[in-house]
Amino acid sequence: MGALATLAGAESPAVADAQLAARLADLQAERGHKWAEPNDSESHRLHGLFQYPAMMVPEMQHDILDVLQANFEAPRVWDGFVGSGTTLAESMNLGLDFVGRDINPLAILICRVKAGPYHVGAFAASAQRVIDRSKADPDRKLAVLFPNWQKWFRMSVALALSRIRRAILVEPNPACRRFHWLALAETVRLCSNSRLSTVKLHARPSDEVKSRAIDVYGTFSTTLLRNLERLTEQGEWLAQEGLLNSGYYTGQIALELGDIRDAPASTEPCHIALTSPPYGDNTSTVTYGQHAYLPLRWIDLRDIDPAADDKVLASTHALDSMSLGGSRRLDERDVESLCEAAPSLKATFERLAPLPRDRTNRVAAFFRDFRDALPSVVERIERGGVTAWTVGNRQVGGGQVPLDDALVELLEAHDVSPICRLERTIPAGRKRMAVRNGHADTIAGETVLVFRRS
Ligand SMILES: C[S@@+](CC[C@H](N)C(=O)[O-])C[C@H]1O[C@@H](n2cnc3c(N)ncnc32)[C@H](O)[C@@H]1O
Repeated sequence: MGALATLAGAESPAVADAQLAARLADLQAERGHKWAEPNDSESHRLHGLFQYPAMMVPEMQHDILDVLQANFEAPRVWDGFVGSGTTLAESMNLGLDFVGRDINPLAILICRVKAGPYHVGAFAASAQRVIDRSKADPDRKLAVLFPNWQKWFRMSVALALSRIRRAILVEPNPACRRFHWLALAETVRLCSNSRLSTVKLHARPSDEVKSRAIDVYGTFSTTLLRNLERLTEQGEWLAQEGLLNSGYYTGQIALELGDIRDAPASTEPCHIALTSPPYGDNTSTVTYGQHAYLPLRWIDLRDIDPAADDKVLASTHALDSMSLGGSRRLDERDVESLCEAAPSLKATFERLAPLPRDRTNRVAAFFRDFRDALPSVVERIERGGVTAWTVGNRQVGGGQVPLDDALVELLEAHDVSPICRLERTIPAGRKRMAVRNGHADTIAGETVLVFRRS
């Protein structure tokens, strides 16, 4: 199916871009207040299956995607940093095909559950069997052992999680198992000894660990029930829109587990890339890997993806060090070449130069990896296709790091040119910011930059 590269009726690509910019500006004027104060319960049934860090605002992405998709005939959407799949869910809500990739197996698990099948009756029956079987399991053996597990789990909690894991493993249907693994992941998050107030692993004080009342089976059952309700609602909505056939989404969805820098060129390019990358290195910003570490310990990774590799669990930091900005091994010329490719970074590196070297290294390592990731994102976008990036400028060493301007400069080298910019102010104390690892004080807003690949 061919994509239309320009807006219907536009005389030239420049006119098409101007029309698109005008439409998006109108959209911001009309809907901007909703993006600042999103109401999760409004129409977004799929966004609360697991509390993933730094999720995009579904309302805003939905609105933008709706405008972008009108420019193409049967577009395919691409997100190379898919995370919990906000773009995936909104693509499904609009009946579009989708390709997503992420380095974090937990992200791919969430996306697979969102993608379906929506066999909620089978999930419910299987969930009851898993609960009954786990409660009846007399085995006092731990199903999972890893270094330092006692730091993160009380013995009684580890035993209950072991019984649930054993009960899930014997379920024959992989889609049912994935549904249960996701509920188990949320149960691990809520019942471990790590604080919930931060994305980083951070043990609670021992008196709090001892005195805390934890109901593992109750948490698991409640999560299963909540997720069942959300999937039921989403399934009914998709069916009503004619987007579900025998419980399967009618569009095509492909999910890939892996580093974006290793993404193979696709034979079927996408028309719209809608994405939100990490905003900086994951030591000082969001540690997606640490957040996923304990849940992934209890899940059978083979049920997530054949490419899943235990090496992401080699330590609590392993996944983060494989992610963008994870390796601080820098070349002497890295800062210089980054400033050549993205001149707006020059002022940042000059400001950081007198500060402890670590600051420069972190920023440089992140931008080096970010720059290296861009060809893989861009190559999957058909020429004439559009791409929208949600980014935020964080503070390092007393000043902002201009990720937005650097992105414009770095993409220019790939023939990807800016069309317009939308802003979203982040109200102080919003829940979404709390899960951004205490970023509320360092990021006052997010920008969506819209480009066209010429
Ligand atoms: C801002 S989050 C995306 C959140 C997503 N938009 C959502 O709404 O849930 C950035 C994502 O980039 C992923 N990531 C970091 N380094 C990566 C890499 N090298 N390759 C692929 N994904 C990576 C992280 O695992 C994380 O899920």
